[in-house]
Amino acid sequence: MGQDLEKVLVTEDEIKTRLAEMGAQIDADYAGRDLLIVGVLKGAVMVMADLARALHSPVSMDWMAVSSYGAGTTSSGVVRILKDLETDIQGRDVLVVEDVIDSGLTLSWLVGNLKSRGPRSVEICTMIRKPLAFEVDLEVRYVGFDLPNEFIVGYGLDYAEKYRNLPFIGTLAPHVYEK
Ligand code: IMP
Ligand code: MG
Repeated sequence: MGQDLEKVLVTEDEIKTRLAEMGAQIDADYAGRDLLIVGVLKGAVMVMADLARALHSPVSMDWMAVSSYGAGTTSSGVVRILKDLETDIQGRDVLVVEDVIDSGLTLSWLVGNLKSRGPRSVEICTMIRKPLAFEVDLEVRYVGFDLPNEFIVGYGLDYAEKYRNLPFIGTLAPHVYEK
């Protein structure tokens, strides 16, 4: 895949180090609680797998898949649930795990939806946050890295369903988009 990449923004080592820090923080914040981490498919698969193993408490794991209606690459904030939780979250502490927050529209809808189910708490953890996310009313408790407004791939993030399996995060060379 090397020839398809332009630059590496976050290395595999940097991801690993940051996840250990975030895991320690989450362990401390939820000490003595019964945490449910919820991964948003498909992008959050890598961060869920690695974050879960960075935690030292026995969390439960569940998954949601949502699709946002909207033209092309811009998300509209109108969301459809493709796969719902298997867990009843009433009274539970829920941590939503995301790969990236760009406009934040999908996630702000999702958090509203989860809160309507009567959980004890809903917080957000994302590996990457982009600058647009500051414009939406969304409190993000755990952030791996703040990156500039560029299209990125790797570590779960795709371009046309490819490059999710890169172990680092980077940008694609222009020729990839021109194919
Ligand atoms: P939102 O704009 O925060 O609602 O992001 C919606 C979705 O767009 C994310 O969950 C990702 O699947 C996708 N997305 C946003 N930015 C990128 C990117 O730079 N690379 C790949 N996917 C992205
Ligand atoms: Mg996502």
